[in-house]
Amino acid sequence: MATTDFRASPFLAGHHRPSRMEVDAPDLFIDGELPADLAGVFYRNGAEPLYPPTDEDYHWFDGDGMVYAFFIDNGRVALRNRWVRTDKLLLEMKAGRRLFGVHGNPATTDPLAEGTRYNTANTNIILHGGKLLALMEGAPPVELDPRTLDTIGEQHYGGVVTTTFSAHPTVDHDNGELVNIGTIARRGGTAAEIRYDIIDFAGQPIKTETIPMPHHSMMHTFFVTENYVVFPVTPLDVSIRRAMSGGPIVAWDGNRPTKLGVMPRRGTAADVRWFEAEPRHMMHQANVWEDEGRIVADVAAAEGTSLFPDTKGRWRSHRDSVQSLRRWTIDPAAATDVVREDTLDDHDIQFPRPDDRLMTRPSRFVFANSNLHSVEGRIDGMDAVLRVDTRSGDEDLYHFGDGAAAGELIFAPRLGGTDELDGYALTLVHRAGAAETELVVFDAADLSGGPLARVRIPFAIPSGFHCNYYSADSPLYRQALSREP
Ligand SMILES: [Fe+2]
Repeated sequence: MATTDFRASPFLAGHHRPSRMEVDAPDLFIDGELPADLAGVFYRNGAEPLYPPTDEDYHWFDGDGMVYAFFIDNGRVALRNRWVRTDKLLLEMKAGRRLFGVHGNPATTDPLAEGTRYNTANTNIILHGGKLLALMEGAPPVELDPRTLDTIGEQHYGGVVTTTFSAHPTVDHDNGELVNIGTIARRGGTAAEIRYDIIDFAGQPIKTETIPMPHHSMMHTFFVTENYVVFPVTPLDVSIRRAMSGGPIVAWDGNRPTKLGVMPRRGTAADVRWFEAEPRHMMHQANVWEDEGRIVADVAAAEGTSLFPDTKGRWRSHRDSVQSLRRWTIDPAAATDVVREDTLDDHDIQFPRPDDRLMTRPSRFVFANSNLHSVEGRIDGMDAVLRVDTRSGDEDLYHFGDGAAAGELIFAPRLGGTDELDGYALTLVHRAGAAETELVVFDAADLSGGPLARVRIPFAIPSGFHCNYYSADSPLYRQALSREP
């Protein structure tokens, strides 16, 4: 089916235009020289619909998961990309057309899809328990082969995970645990609860707990520290009742505060204490840790969002909902339930990231893709990358030129490196009008000095969602990719 059959959507055009192909490129051209001590795999997931959407209101979050893997070794890079063969996609491939409505909307889904789960597996791609897992928050993970990217199937953890699973579980690099949540609607959509899971390094579930939510919020992420877990209930309200009466199913409700439920990591629902903050849009944190008993969360937050309408169906512009880097501080010992907020950096950022090895423990530097000049950042793209020193406030910034779209910026430790800045920073960038995408490699301590090397992908990879890098000497890489045959 030709791409001209795709309906006009800003999320299917320009740097969002799907590549709609799968490739094996064993040795990509590189401008510059890759550092010898950069070896590992860089994975990225994103939404690329195989078939044209049938609904008018296609959403960026709706396309089929397409995973790109860049295997980096000995100064060379091999690329492989594959669609995640979810049951949804396999059914649609059999039919030769799109069957599901946007976000799986039952009102616009073909009866042929009845009984098949809407799982796009398009949001994140992680290694854990020796498995490569493609994640979306509405469905269980889908396991892929970490080298071939062949789809193995949904991972249910022995029946513990049969519904939802976060796209942003936290892997605690100190003990290898994967800490996860899923939100589940109850009572016909008028209530909701959080299923909280801990899965050990070997991939075995060791704890599951159910926690009632104050209201059904889209909980895209949550926080984990050494001793606590925090459940952020933002004003991004989910209501099936509102959808039944013609309103948006996911809507920004600015009359609601942001609620943060704090629970000991090994605690139960009875231990949860709810703290309250101003209404904030917050889907991503860089890192969260404990400092003298207080919980410190460095997050990308804004006073609203341009990703979803309000409860009346009205949309905000990107300019009215710019996310900046903020620090939320929660004191579990305090007499009041107030959360302190400080702005650390006021650049427009999308995805903040730390050195992943420090997640749940104190960290100093935040990496992010950022927007200097584009007007509608989510649609135009993020044209820069940024590193913020959260102690000094110093910024290290590189601008790719107006019209460029840079993806998530990932810290990649050098082989044998242990310090927070001892390594590189990688991102995929599509420059305005370019036929190619580049995998750009920076010195992590010197973004403004410009790329050390650019790996050239001879086609345009559309802007996607989350990336992760696993160094060849990391336990997660060795567990999944270095096992004896
Ligand atoms: Fe995300």
